[in-house]
Amino acid sequence: MKVTFAPERPQGSYALALPVRGEDMLSDRLAGLDEAARRLATKSIEAQRFEREAASIAETFIAEGEGARRLLLVGLGARTDDDALWEKVGGALAARLLVSGETKLVIDLAGVDADAQAAARIGFGAAARSWRFDLYRTKLGRKQKPTLEEVVIVGAGEGTDEAWQAHSAVLDGLRLARTLVTEPANVIYPEAFVERCREAMDGLGVDFEVVEDGRMRELGMGALLGVGQGSVRPPRLLAMHWNGGGDPAAKPVVLIGKGITFDTGGISIKPAAGMEAMKWDMGGAAAVAGTIRALAGRKSKANVVGICVLAENMPDGGAQRPGDVVISMSGQTIEVINTDAEGRLVLCDAMTWAQREYRPEVMVDLATLTGAMIISLGHEYAGLFSNDDGLAERLTAAGQESGDRLWRMPMGEAYDKLMDSPIADMKNSGVREGGSITAACFLGRFVEEGVKWAHLDIAGMVWADKAGHLYDKGATGYGVALLDRFVSKHHES
Ligand code: BES
Ligand code: MN
Ligand code: ZN
Repeated sequence: MKVTFAPERPQGSYALALPVRGEDMLSDRLAGLDEAARRLATKSIEAQRFEREAASIAETFIAEGEGARRLLLVGLGARTDDDALWEKVGGALAARLLVSGETKLVIDLAGVDADAQAAARIGFGAAARSWRFDLYRTKLGRKQKPTLEEVVIVGAGEGTDEAWQAHSAVLDGLRLARTLVTEPANVIYPEAFVERCREAMDGLGVDFEVVEDGRMRELGMGALLGVGQGSVRPPRLLAMHWNGGGDPAAKPVVLIGKGITFDTGGISIKPAAGMEAMKWDMGGAAAVAGTIRALAGRKSKANVVGICVLAENMPDGGAQRPGDVVISMSGQTIEVINTDAEGRLVLCDAMTWAQREYRPEVMVDLATLTGAMIISLGHEYAGLFSNDDGLAERLTAAGQESGDRLWRMPMGEAYDKLMDSPIADMKNSGVREGGSITAACFLGRFVEEGVKWAHLDIAGMVWADKAGHLYDKGATGYGVALLDRFVSKHHES
């Protein structure tokens, strides 16, 4: 979808949207329409009991010349502390018009105190909400086909192009993440994931480095290899380097994403019902790839390494067994109690590799790590675990501002010791209670001295069973806006 900005309403036919705040005079917002249209609009809006709640919509048609124009009033609410208000407004309008038959939407901000940033955020919301994945539908009904092609945002003043450039790069990252998440596991397996990222970032100046399974063996990545060994698709570790910072020697921010391209559970196999959802067990890796795409797209002045640790967790004759002991790259040994607790096994080796390779000060991992996370926080917040209060606060704030919200969870020795094993240094699965926390503690054992680390358990956020403000049912792209924001606020020179 195309998003453009203009000083005045264009000529011709389109749907017109007018934002209204709780306290605005309706007559002011309807200025510019003729008398009859104003009367009809006012009456029909009252009849719909439109109360101007944030992102609520009242819709009507007004006569204009020979034809009719669709008019939408969109509420801005009374609250002013909703960080994501403008995105929601754009998202709500796009959702309403996406398959409506309208091809063009004009949103007129004249008289609303909305600056260039707000306008860009409206455009972002509209474009994000309009994303669809129709690749495998060969029979799309007439009323299912998207019609909305263009959104024009009018009256936001100076600076819209610059504001839009940054948002448009984040959109590209969001679309990449959603595509990777949505594609099925017969299409996106570890090597295919790498190739998709290469194509998506071609020509943007991102350096790719791929660690293949042979090299993993030399490096001693026994935990990661153990997870991959039941699959005919070999594991991969992908590192994407974006060096936009002024000082190329400056330590990079390291982002690590869990990329299990399919999680059957392995020999500790999952129940059949709902197992198809495990195609999106690579949502952390997708968020990391999307973030690098966004940073490169907007030429972020930061040094960031995005690492995707990719494997398929399958049961076969070669698969690892419950009770197997593996040696991680760190040298620590792990008793594999449950082959379905595979995320932590691939992540721990990726974390060791990243710390040896880059000596980062800040390392953030994202993973669809535990079902228990969804029991704790549902689908509103991802869980945040960290060994550093400052980092936790910065991430929480970036979450609030981007709409990808985070809630901090506890860690600590009492939880950590639940992961001790009688036969090895640790086991990969303990008791059910506090399962997300003990998983985080497991990862914490691989964090080296002096590294500020955060772990985001995004199990409840990657896929939505119902539409949200900025996404339809399906892949959400969670994490891209969050990490882009985090980097832009704290790690750009
Ligand atoms: N990928 C799953 C976690 C998950 C479950 C994500 C549902 C999204 C939705 C993970 O690999 C897993 O299977 N975790 C186990 C851990 C347990 C065996 C300790 C879980 O949560 O049951
Ligand atoms: Mn699993
Ligand atoms: Zn998993």
